[in-house]
Amino acid sequence: MNMPPRYQDAKWENLSEPLRKTIIETKKDGLVGIMFTGNPGVGKTYTAYALCSRIEEKLNIGVFCVNATSDLLALASGATFRGGYDTDERDFYERFEAHRGAFFVDDLSADLECTEVEKRILYGLVNKCYENEQYLVVTTNNTIEELRQSFGNKFISRLLGCCGVLELQGDDNRLKNHE
Ligand SMILES: Nc1ncnc2c1ncn2[C@@H]1O[C@H](COP(=O)(O)OP(=O)(O)O)[C@@H](O)[C@H]1O
Ligand SMILES: [Mg+2]
Repeated sequence: MNMPPRYQDAKWENLSEPLRKTIIETKKDGLVGIMFTGNPGVGKTYTAYALCSRIEEKLNIGVFCVNATSDLLALASGATFRGGYDTDERDFYERFEAHRGAFFVDDLSADLECTEVEKRILYGLVNKCYENEQYLVVTTNNTIEELRQSFGNKFISRLLGCCGVLELQGDDNRLKNHE
């Protein structure tokens, strides 16, 4: 798993005991993953990386990380505007298709205007996790209803078929240096 420097210390042991307990309770046995919701800066991405590092270390499952607001959209724009993927994008797409481990989709956003291709890529990813029972970790600032408006019922049905939903609360951590 490729972790950005800011989240290098995102480890399961660094989460609070109550949060770890809630995460375990939210990911019920019938589900294959968990989605963290909440306002910007509450720690969704940090918590998700901490869970992903546990998935790799404890379950020995490789995690494929994608940022839904950049990686997938770059791939989709290559498909849409350049008439094909360049080598790196094709490589990314082939790795994504072939990956049998867990997926981490960071920052799923209903606020961007996704093209049909972009929506289909995201749908394909969630559907793949649902059908193959692959572990799926998602973060979003949006509510389920906002996501439903953008991505539609079929997408939300599969997303909730995969993931328990845990809303993280608190202050925006990024603003603490401004107090
Ligand atoms: N439990 C935590 N322990 C240490 N730092 C944290 C924790 N949760 C969040 N942070 C830090 O707070 C900042 C915002 O967290 P982040 O997960 O990026 O927020 P979100 O994804 O909800 O917008 C980041 O710099 C992150 O490293
Ligand atoms: Mg985030």
